[in-house]
Amino acid sequence: MHPGFELVTVPSGARSLRSRAHGETFHPGIGPMLEAEALHVGQQRLVERARAAQGEFVIWDVGLGAAANALAVWNALSGSSRPAAIRLHSFDLTLEPLSFALSHAELLEYIEPHRARLERLRARAFVAEQGIEWTLHLGDFRDQMCSAPKPHAILYDPYSPGTNADLWSLEHFSALAASLDPARPCLLSNYTRSTAVRVTLLLAGFHVGIGAATGDKEETTLATNDLSLLNVPLDHTWLARVRRSTRAAPLRFAASAGPIAEADYAKLADCLQFRSAR
Ligand SMILES: C[S@@+](CC[C@H](N)C(=O)[O-])C[C@H]1O[C@@H](n2cnc3c(N)ncnc32)[C@H](O)[C@@H]1O
Repeated sequence: MHPGFELVTVPSGARSLRSRAHGETFHPGIGPMLEAEALHVGQQRLVERARAAQGEFVIWDVGLGAAANALAVWNALSGSSRPAAIRLHSFDLTLEPLSFALSHAELLEYIEPHRARLERLRARAFVAEQGIEWTLHLGDFRDQMCSAPKPHAILYDPYSPGTNADLWSLEHFSALAASLDPARPCLLSNYTRSTAVRVTLLLAGFHVGIGAATGDKEETTLATNDLSLLNVPLDHTWLARVRRSTRAAPLRFAASAGPIAEADYAKLADCLQFRSAR
């Protein structure tokens, strides 16, 4: 019934989904919930930032998939009282992984307690409960992102650059960076530690920092429109490695990977986070 996905057991023993078409396992190291909590909820300091926010606190969940990231947000933020309304906006091209997860809810521990809520979200694209409004945008994130309120947090999980290049290109990240509200500090968290992705995010206009280790990754990546949100911004040591790397070229449409061009390196070195650390 769902030939595109299968259930797998990751090294931690947790069960997760694997996309056959992309050849990728969702949350491959420590499993769906632990990874979602560590990589996104914890690093984003969602509980503290949402508590300090006024009006609304907006979270974009890019690649709803089987909803682990979104449910980790739900578990962390639902129920408690705070000044700001929580608006969770999930984006996906397809409901196929969510439907697969729902049809295996008894084997995916993190899904089971939320089964009814997820069925309502799938049917109506909107759920409002326990202080959270959760909206589902079905379609290409690149088109849909204009229809959601400006985010404070972006949980970025649309498969990897190797299998979904359009969502990692300089053109797309430039549009994403330009779409943010400069008056609304926003942090993007992601699983990658690729030099080329970090270069691409920097050239697109983000400040970029090192994120926490998770599973088999020694470090991950954070990007932001507000440098003060980064604990460990990439520094001159990293910049020097970029120059030597054979795979640091930014990810452009129809461009092949390789070393960074002089003109791109000059723009990179001129980014605010390297200028201010000179
Ligand atoms: C690795 S899965 C996400 C896993 C999910 N975050 C979770 O916690 O279960 C990647 C998801 O991104 C979605 N996706 C890929 N390209 C997309 C695009 N252009 N727009 C919206 N969603 C996209 C895929 O359909 C897939 O469901």
